[in-house]
Amino acid sequence: MKNLALLISPRAKSAYFNDLIEVARAELAWVLGSDKTITFQKTGALEFLSVSASESQIPTLLKLSFVYGIFEQHQNHLIPLPVEASLKLHEDFVFGAKFKGKTNELLTQLLINIGLDSIDYENIANVKMLDPMCGRATTLLWGMRYGMKAKGIEQDAKALADIRQNVKKWCKIHRQKHQFKDGFVGGKATKGNSGKFIEFSVDDTSMRVITGDSAEACRLLNNEKFNLIISDLPYGVQHFTTSQTRNPLAVLKECAKDWCASLKAGGVMVLAFNRNIPKRRELLGVFTEHGMQELAFTAPHQMSESIVRDVVALQMPSN
Ligand SMILES: C[S@@+](CC[C@H](N)C(=O)[O-])C[C@H]1O[C@@H](n2cnc3c(N)ncnc32)[C@H](O)[C@@H]1O
Repeated sequence: MKNLALLISPRAKSAYFNDLIEVARAELAWVLGSDKTITFQKTGALEFLSVSASESQIPTLLKLSFVYGIFEQHQNHLIPLPVEASLKLHEDFVFGAKFKGKTNELLTQLLINIGLDSIDYENIANVKMLDPMCGRATTLLWGMRYGMKAKGIEQDAKALADIRQNVKKWCKIHRQKHQFKDGFVGGKATKGNSGKFIEFSVDDTSMRVITGDSAEACRLLNNEKFNLIISDLPYGVQHFTTSQTRNPLAVLKECAKDWCASLKAGGVMVLAFNRNIPKRRELLGVFTEHGMQELAFTAPHQMSESIVRDVVALQMPSN
């Protein structure tokens, strides 16, 4: 075992605000196990979480959303480890675009980490991830960086053009070899563009964004099953849902059956939401009603006067 000090990224403050340390602890404890002693430490302006971990856990620690670098601790000395997270695509694909309603990139990474740590898999290239309310694809592009196959559904028909423009720009700047494919689910154009998709692939990783109402997820996805569902649910004034109410609960109730049917046995759903509306219990209830089981993860953090963002995780029981 090594005594490690995980340097907290300056970016993490704008993801988790004043609750940064607690959220970072929750993420770390989830991947290492809650029996670990985690200590907060400050050296000048640099902030660390210290923990003991094995060499084989370092690649996972490097991908934690708050981690900027890892140091090994020898008495009072901190020695930086020459290690980097192994990720595909340039980080600009995820962090480069700024748009209204974008989910914080690090929070998105945390959701993926919680999900990945809760499922069984041998090869990440075989893990399939769905974001059923994917906006402009922050989750899906992270999925590609992790080496997964990702799909998303978004009701806003304008999203496809925005995503294409963004991805093309970074491919050009970073000379990234890639492929695009467009089409309609089922092969035929439809009224309102429901089922229209674009697919972006690089080597053996890809993402597909499909226009449509997530309540029809099974039809839009041809009944495909996923290991992970990861999403930042609509909250706040910017993210009106299809029924134009600020409470996403009604929409989620319409979606729950198809989302649960889209998960493999043992699959995990990790959702970020504003816990002022809906309440955590109510949100969990929408999915436990369809046979899912709550996992004990929570990471509340105050974003603004009216938004306390939190995370729920649920698992589809294995057969
Ligand atoms: C918080 S935003 C997600 C932002 C996304 N993670 C990103 O960074 O681009 C929630 C998204 O859910 C979409 N949405 C709401 N209701 C939907 C529905 N019934 N079907 C599909 N998408 C929906 C909204 O249009 C919005 O883009």
